[in-house]
Amino acid sequence: MKVFSQKEPILKEIEDLKARHFTIGLVPTMGALHEGHLELVKKALTDNDYVIVSIFVNPTQFDNNDDLKKYPRTLNDDVVLLKTVSKDNIVIYAPTVNDIYEGNTVSQKFDFDGLEFEMEGKFRQGHFDGVGTIVKRFFDIIKPHNAYFGEKDFQQLQIIRKLVEKHQIPVNIVGCKIHREATGLAMSSRNTRLKPAYKNAAPFIYKTLTTAKTLFGTKSANKVTEWVEKEFAKHKLLQLEYFIIADVDTLKLVKRKSPDNYGGKKSYRAFIAVYADDIRLIDNIALN
Ligand code: PAJ
Repeated sequence: MKVFSQKEPILKEIEDLKARHFTIGLVPTMGALHEGHLELVKKALTDNDYVIVSIFVNPTQFDNNDDLKKYPRTLNDDVVLLKTVSKDNIVIYAPTVNDIYEGNTVSQKFDFDGLEFEMEGKFRQGHFDGVGTIVKRFFDIIKPHNAYFGEKDFQQLQIIRKLVEKHQIPVNIVGCKIHREATGLAMSSRNTRLKPAYKNAAPFIYKTLTTAKTLFGTKSANKVTEWVEKEFAKHKLLQLEYFIIADVDTLKLVKRKSPDNYGGKKSYRAFIAVYADDIRLIDNIALN
């Protein structure tokens, strides 16, 4: 398995693959890979001849320096894990900060038609400018045919779709379902940092989302939100940052369900962010 840490050699590799008419799928990650990431890689391998997995903890998308410092970096383990999926058809690009930012570690400013101001955008200043900057950079370098993103970060997925549309980037964006642990907890690189009591408590997040989904069948978005907020107010270990029911296209809060919501016109999703100790966990669920 080839592992590149610099642009020039990987550019040569990509040129070679394209000259041989191979299709290329890109799976951008920040490493500390888990089964959720591997699902994206497996899907990409079924759709493409070669899959480039980028592993890069992108400094410009962190609004919290401590979170950036503590983000797990496990390149050797990541390589071992990826080898279990394919030895021959995965190429790893694990660049240095300098290789990507060339001494100027700042974000480009983007206009994502307001998607960037909702939910994560409210709580993580500049986050989506950082994500847009790095993903656009990878698209520019790699020019993949397809790129894979998880619904785990649903707002990110919608923002990447917007990035591609607005900047007319010739890549097909594929969204992939959330991969969960047996307890229902959405897999995340941050889960490894949870202390045992918090790890035991964390499945409460998905349990609450599934009940909220059932309640949404008969109750208003407001009533469901109030119920979720009360459930978390009673919880001793988990602290709710936000619970929001939003329209999947605009990501704006749903005030009133559209009467034709079950006719397939409007799709709603519930989004949640929770602190378990100092670790921030996010999840979401389709409501209809
Ligand atoms: P990271 O958190 O490493 O996630 C990489 C990709 O894996 C994202 O598309 C994310 O949505 C997906 N993913 C993570 N956990 C998942 C799960 N449990 N089920 C399904 N998909 C999951 O997201 C990022 O990195 C960064 O913001 C990045 C896009 C790489 C830009 O730096």
